Amino acid sequence: MKFATLSASCLALAMCSGLVFAQQAKTDMGKREFEANCASCHGMDGRGNGPLGNLLRVGPPDLTQLAKKNQGILPMNRLYEVIEGGTVAAHGTRDMPIWGREYRIDDAEHLKEARGNYDANALVRARILLLLEYLNRLQGR
Ligand code: HEC
Repeated sequence: MKFATLSASCLALAMCSGLVFAQQAKTDMGKREFEANCASCHGMDGRGNGPLGNLLRVGPPDLTQLAKKNQGILPMNRLYEVIEGGTVAAHGTRDMPIWGREYRIDDAEHLKEARGNYDANALVRARILLLLEYLNRLQGR
């Protein structure tokens, strides 16, 4: 099995096991992803009080109340688009990084030896889905 195929399947596997065993897993991939890339603005607990938040024009929103603000249901599709970056806020400029682009660049650096021989879109999707699953666990805290 080629390196890229292997790491893509590892990620897919990690994602599925993350979805099922997320609470018990020693390595909580969604939590790690969140703490590495999101907590600086949104805070370790997701409430929007990260150290970089003060430097932004718009304070980062509290991510623990997203379901509550949407009649108890986490709006997965909308959040996926916000995180991926395909959609822009209705007004104003966007302060949050465009994660679809960031992840593509990051994956390409980590998988340099694969020379583009991997499914870049699938890797980005996997990372965003891990985050959404973690955000789901943060609701109502
Ligand atoms: C540089 C600071 C910063 C970082 C890092 C950051 N965000 Fe944000 N985020 C914001 C800001 C500010 C907003 C409000 C909209 C805007 O101005 O872009 C926001 C909005 C959001 C929203 C939209 C909430 C809603 O109700 O529409 C979600 C979801 C979100 N961020 C998730 C994440 C995730 C997941 C990560 C990590 C991969 C992350 N953010 C990293 C600053 C950040």
